[in-house]
Amino acid sequence: MVEKAKWIWQDGKLVPWDEARVHVLTHTLHYGFGVFEGIRSYALAGGGSAVFRLDAHLRRLYDSAKIIGLRPAVPLADLHAAVMLVLKENGLREAYIRPIMLVGCGAMGLYAIDNPVGTVVAAFPWGAYLGEEGLARGIRAKVSSFARNHINSAMAKGKICGHYVNNIMAKSEAVHAGYHEAIMLDTAGFVAEASGENLFLVKDGVVHTPGVATVLGGVTRDAVMAIMRDLGIAVVERNIARDELYIADEILITGTAAEVTPVREVDDRPIGAGKPGPVTLKVQAAYFDAVKGRNPAYEGWLTRVR
Ligand SMILES: Cc1ncc(COP(=O)(O)O)c(C=O)c1O
Repeated sequence: MVEKAKWIWQDGKLVPWDEARVHVLTHTLHYGFGVFEGIRSYALAGGGSAVFRLDAHLRRLYDSAKIIGLRPAVPLADLHAAVMLVLKENGLREAYIRPIMLVGCGAMGLYAIDNPVGTVVAAFPWGAYLGEEGLARGIRAKVSSFARNHINSAMAKGKICGHYVNNIMAKSEAVHAGYHEAIMLDTAGFVAEASGENLFLVKDGVVHTPGVATVLGGVTRDAVMAIMRDLGIAVVERNIARDELYIADEILITGTAAEVTPVREVDDRPIGAGKPGPVTLKVQAAYFDAVKGRNPAYEGWLTRVR
């Protein structure tokens, strides 16, 4: 259950949490034609709090809208201010922030270009997405029987509401089978990503990750790749086959919600020693140092909440 905050920003103003509503004929509710983001803020080591990579997330939100042809109702700068307002007015330091643009009521047919576009920013406390134990000990993953959406049927670069039916089916299948997370292959059979995270494997000291063509270009993925480079760890972007997962030394998945989570098992095969490996632990520690303001080198990624 989501832990309620006091206010939600909806179409230019703060409304009480329980009064932030949409009509049942909201177009996006029926067809999934909408875009959203997932962002986190963290309490900082030196006091105060900051949103991690807010600009990159908002840029991707507007890119997502452009990809599907949804016309944003508010400029990016206003949404930036809305995120700050929601955090401040709710007194939230460590929060998950969920902006969404949705097509409202009007035409019910598929072509609804004149329907009003609603814009919402909610924020609420949310702990480790795959659990504190998952962060510490690693999770068990299953290769999904559902292929990730084909890049020419669903646009992989956008965080588009309806596309997540694919991810939800994969996640549900994995959880019902007793795993924590699903790893999805693309329609050519190569490893794509987890249901809500990008994936990296470590083999002989080198990190390998699928290129961004068929996956969401994760903001955490980008941050983690910069951190790896700064740590002197080589990263190669290339096609990865399923059996390479089984014989990897380490696997880690990254996302705003899941942060940097080790994968200790795939399809019942232990990965490496069956526990988080040295590269994963180093990168995970560096990531938490970055988001919590403990490393001045990454100060540029933080937008302080004042
Ligand atoms: C399918 C998918 N892949 C990867 C990610 C990771 O992206 P980010 O690091 O920007 O949160 C997410 C989460 O947004 C996702 O939904």
